[in-house]
Amino acid sequence: MMKVTKAIFPVAGLGTRFLPATKATPKEMMPIVDKPLIQHAVEEALAAGITEFIFITSSSKRAIEDHFDSNFELEANLFERGKHEQLALVQGILPPTVSCAYIRQKSPQGLGHAVLCAKQLLSSEPFAVVLADDLIDGGKESCLQQMMTVFEQTQASVIAVEKILPSDSKKYGIVDIASNTQPVAKIAGIVEKPEPANAPSNFGVVGRYILTPAIFNMLEQTSEGSGGEIQLTDAIAKLLKKEPIMALKFHGKRYDCGSKLGYLEATIAYALKHPEVAKDFQLLLRDFVECMA
Ligand code: G1P
Repeated sequence: MMKVTKAIFPVAGLGTRFLPATKATPKEMMPIVDKPLIQHAVEEALAAGITEFIFITSSSKRAIEDHFDSNFELEANLFERGKHEQLALVQGILPPTVSCAYIRQKSPQGLGHAVLCAKQLLSSEPFAVVLADDLIDGGKESCLQQMMTVFEQTQASVIAVEKILPSDSKKYGIVDIASNTQPVAKIAGIVEKPEPANAPSNFGVVGRYILTPAIFNMLEQTSEGSGGEIQLTDAIAKLLKKEPIMALKFHGKRYDCGSKLGYLEATIAYALKHPEVAKDFQLLLRDFVECMA
């Protein structure tokens, strides 16, 4: 029985949709209220049992390494000033039992290429891929945890999907699955960012994958696809010819934090349940809505 303990976080993207904010700051470090997007993604993986975190990064993303490292100067300062709550907050970002590895992707050649960069660290075991842009509030059970359950039962690759507007097919990998009500379905095909007329269904891939190691051979045989990049979707389509792959219509709410509106929506939703600001923020929002009425 294979177990998933490693996760890849592709974080080398340029974040051009959020310029100028992302000129010198990684988009993954943008906060949802007070916690960077990448920390939300890492916490989801932690809750799902991941203990080894592999970040595919680039020269402009050093802040991510710093965020998950200790900061002696800050910690000593907080300690001296008796700010124990804040000290616990910065020291508790990751438990001491987990490990992080950082691999540089020298040029942005796509999600498939980013995943391939981690090959040496993942010889022959299944692993997760988590895209921090997609912030998912799974409620009681995170999206990745739900996927782990499906993997444990099937030992097959699992891709998280959700219903999308037909007109949005060009933004997603689209899976070919029967549109029945079952939450788990075997996929019959997958295509990256098709035109609405060519989309095999209305189910789009969100940024959560559990993949078997056979994907690496497929990635090595995958040439440039949509957008001139090496697409993970194309390698998954190849893998499908050799192994079954499952799609999971997960429970939960996904926020597309790669878009400005999705980011704002997530900020509002998370502020409304943030223990420190929720009450006041609700009043603030009410005032805004009243002013607009
Ligand atoms: C990537 C994948 C796409 C998937 C999406 C989910 O696209 O290539 O298949 O649907 O993530 O967020 P990107 O958003 O990086 O263009």
